[in-house]
This record gives sequence, structure tokens and C-alpha cells, in this order.
Amino acid sequence: MSTTQRSAFDLSGRLAVVTGARRGIGLAMAEALAAAGADIVAVSANLEESGSLVEQRVTALGRSYRTLRVDFADRAAVAALAARLGNLDRPVDILVNNAGTIARAPAAEHSDSDWDHVLAVNLGSQFTLTREVGRGMLERGYGKIMFTASLLSFQGGVNVPGYTAAKSGLAGLTRALANEWAGRGVNVNAIVPGYVATDNTQALRDDPDRYQAILDRIPAGRWATPEDFGGIAVFLASSAADYVHGALIPVDGGWLGR
Ligand SMILES: NC(=O)c1ccc[n+]([C@@H]2O[C@H](COP(=O)([O-])OP(=O)(O)OC[C@H]3O[C@@H](n4cnc5c(N)ncnc54)[C@H](OP(=O)(O)O)[C@@H]3O)[C@@H](O)[C@H]2O)c1
Repeated sequence: MSTTQRSAFDLSGRLAVVTGARRGIGLAMAEALAAAGADIVAVSANLEESGSLVEQRVTALGRSYRTLRVDFADRAAVAALAARLGNLDRPVDILVNNAGTIARAPAAEHSDSDWDHVLAVNLGSQFTLTREVGRGMLERGYGKIMFTASLLSFQGGVNVPGYTAAKSGLAGLTRALANEWAGRGVNVNAIVPGYVATDNTQALRDDPDRYQAILDRIPAGRWATPEDFGGIAVFLASSAADYVHGALIPVDGGWLGR
């Protein structure tokens, strides 16, 4: 390969919006996208105006950084976010729909408010944001969109019926959007994390029996770390994935294959 040839994984000059970028998987994905050349707009509920970990990591890599604080439980705030993204001085090339929340309670005690909150943050707002940002991508004939799905896009889970419904919905949404947009230059795919050591799984990791039972079932023999998701995010954001549409790609240490 000549030295002037652009790598298929090079994201230089691209602008990526990463939701839930303040911590966990989103933070690691934002850092990996920046390392591959992308400038970053970080979005999350409690993102600091300045000095956040994600800002430090992105700017240390020499990329431009912007921050937008939005609560995805608030549909009007999500619409306002979409409008702000549409009014930036440059178009959004990559949308990483990663922000997510979880409510743990047995189905018989799972409240409507928990259900509504989880469905709003993990599914409804993601549709609204993707529809709005996706419309601009369709006009330009270019865009890379990814969702953070879950093993519970395929399995039922325990004590998390709202989360399972939302993540199963994301699997359908990924395919539905890909069906409509694949021929118009916009890739829509989903990453399927296995069990990752983040705040999302703190309750599981605090229960030694649950933790060990999960560990015993993972062929790779370890829980994932957020950094395990950098590579797949860069791949799906890059031209290396131009022909990948409507895929739900497990990054799960082999869990689903077992
Ligand atoms: N950890 C796992 O094992 C696992 C497995 C499968 C899928 N996932 C999915 O991976 C994604 C990232 O989760 P994580 O494990 O990295 O968890 P995490 O460490 O709890 O991070 C969640 C991120 O989402 C943001 N967020 C949560 N509720 C929000 C809201 N109402 N509005 C705006 N942002 C909100 C948080 O914002 P703040 O930081 O500003 O509060 C945070 O940045 C989620 O979609 C999760 O469902 C995780």
C-alpha cells in the first residue's frame, strides 16, 4: 500500500456523535474513534461542561471535542439535541447510539415508571435521534450509524423485562432502518456486547454467585472491559464496513455461540 493511500479504517475528517460517552463503553468508543481520526461530539445526561474524562482523552489525541448534556428520558430534549446537531458547522458523519440505562426488578414487581423510563432512554429516544440525524445523512448520501444492543436482544434475561424489551426492539430497529437506508449510503448496524465491567453491571458483579455463574459461561474466560469495544466501533464507523448493513455483531467472548 502506498503511504498516501488512506486506510479503510481511517476516520480523519469525520465527525462522530457518541451518546453515553461520559463513562463505560461509550467513553472507550469515543476514545477509539478519536484515535482513528474522528472529531467527537460527546452526549450524556451528566456530562461536565468541561474537564470530563472523555474531553481529556479526545483532546489528548488532537481531535476537536464538543459536549452536549441531554437526558434521553426527555423526548423534547432529544428533539432539541437533534436540532443542535443539525445546526453544527459541519455534518454528522457517524452516530453512535450508545447511551442506555437499566432497571432491575422481578417482572411481577416491575413498575410502569421503570418500564417507561427504560423504554424511553434505550429505544424511543434512540429512534427519534436517529430519524433526525439520519435524514441529513440520507440527503448527503453518507452516514454510519450504530446502536449498542445487548445479549438481551436475543435472550430474555432475569429481572430486567423493560431492558430486554428495549434491546430486542433495537435489534428490530437496526434491521428496519438498514432495509430502508442501505441503498442510500447510510449503514445501520448494532454492536452486541456480552457482560462488561461497567456501572451497568455493578449489581451483578456485587453478587459473587451471579458473577461467577456468568464468568463460568463465557468461553473467553473473562468479563469484557470497555476497551473491548473500540475496534468494532471504528470498524462500523469506517469505509471498511461499507457493505455491512443491518448486522448485529456480538462482541461477547463467545457467549452467544455457546
Ligand atoms: N455493561 C454491559 O454489560 C452491557 C451489556 C450490553 C449492553 N450494554 C449497553 O451498553 C451501553 C453503555 O452502557 P455501559 O455498560 O457503558 O453503562 P454505564 O457505564 O452505566 O454508561 C451508561 C452511559 O449512558 C448514559 N445515560 C444513561 N442514562 C441516560 C439518560 N437518561 N440520558 C442520557 N444519557 C444517559 C450515561 O450518562 P452519564 O454518564 O452522563 O450519567 C452513561 O454515559 C448501554 O446502552 C447498555 O445498555 C452494556
